[in-house]
Amino acid sequence: MLSDKVVIVTGGAKGIGLGCAHVMAGKGASIVIADVDRGTGPHAQSDLRRAGHQAIFVPTDVTRADEVENMVQQAVNRFGHIDCLLNNAGTHISATVFDQTEEEWNRLLDINLKGYFLCAKAALPHLVDRCGSIINMSSMVGLVGQSRATAYAASKGGIVAMTKAMALDLAPAGVRVNCVCPGWVQTPLVEDWFKQQPDPDQAREYIYSVHPMGRIATVEEVGEAVAFLASDAASFITGVALPVDGGVTLGY
Ligand SMILES: NC(=O)c1ccc[n+]([C@@H]2O[C@H](COP(=O)([O-])OP(=O)(O)OC[C@H]3O[C@@H](n4cnc5c(N)ncnc54)[C@H](O)[C@@H]3O)[C@@H](O)[C@H]2O)c1
Repeated sequence: MLSDKVVIVTGGAKGIGLGCAHVMAGKGASIVIADVDRGTGPHAQSDLRRAGHQAIFVPTDVTRADEVENMVQQAVNRFGHIDCLLNNAGTHISATVFDQTEEEWNRLLDINLKGYFLCAKAALPHLVDRCGSIINMSSMVGLVGQSRATAYAASKGGIVAMTKAMALDLAPAGVRVNCVCPGWVQTPLVEDWFKQQPDPDQAREYIYSVHPMGRIATVEEVGEAVAFLASDAASFITGVALPVDGGVTLGY
């Protein structure tokens, strides 16, 4: 399904990004893990290689244009071309407008929104060469909001709007741009979020209960949706915000 395709996965050292990397590699893609975490990144690379896949880790802070340019160049040097950029690197700082600091706002928007823009800009010439695609990791939060998530919700809603704007601009160049809006997914980021809540156990129970399917997603379930959007099977799909949420946005 993804044979001969080269996919950059930002924030791919763990969580959803790593899950997506494994799913896409399992379908034949070569993977570039671009992550700021120099401790975990090499493990992600060796896990993928041990499973028989082509993968490199390039230490990258997506908020730094110079590091992003270098990462794209290293991807091309190693694999020759780029077919898909999965913009996934992200962070969550739980706060209302009362207590969110300007510093937190700037940091979160830099990673979750500006980082996506910088990576798209750097990868674009190569994506145009291959009629490739960009997949942006948004969230159900970008569609329906979330309490105590002022900056995070702004970033995820911004990703949905930016995806549609880019899809319009890049369609004539043959590049598709879509985003995925997961509900809650079992990852380190979600574990951190539970810990930040006043009553972590109660928060976990509540989050499971609001999902009509009675559970949260696995990273592989998100990876399957991403793999479809990256594949030629999605060749006429652009500008969509695809919920992968077990129905949670129907009754959140
Ligand atoms: N976990 C969920 O329930 C959930 C739901 C919807 C959307 N999302 C989104 O999915 C994406 C991944 O989330 P996750 O739960 O896997 O998080 P995670 O914290 O488990 O992983 C995030 C990865 O991004 C990397 N990263 C952070 N800042 C970076 C930077 N400046 N440059 C490069 N890499 C950076 C981290 O090192 C980490 O490897 C995020 O965009 C998140 O908002 C998560």
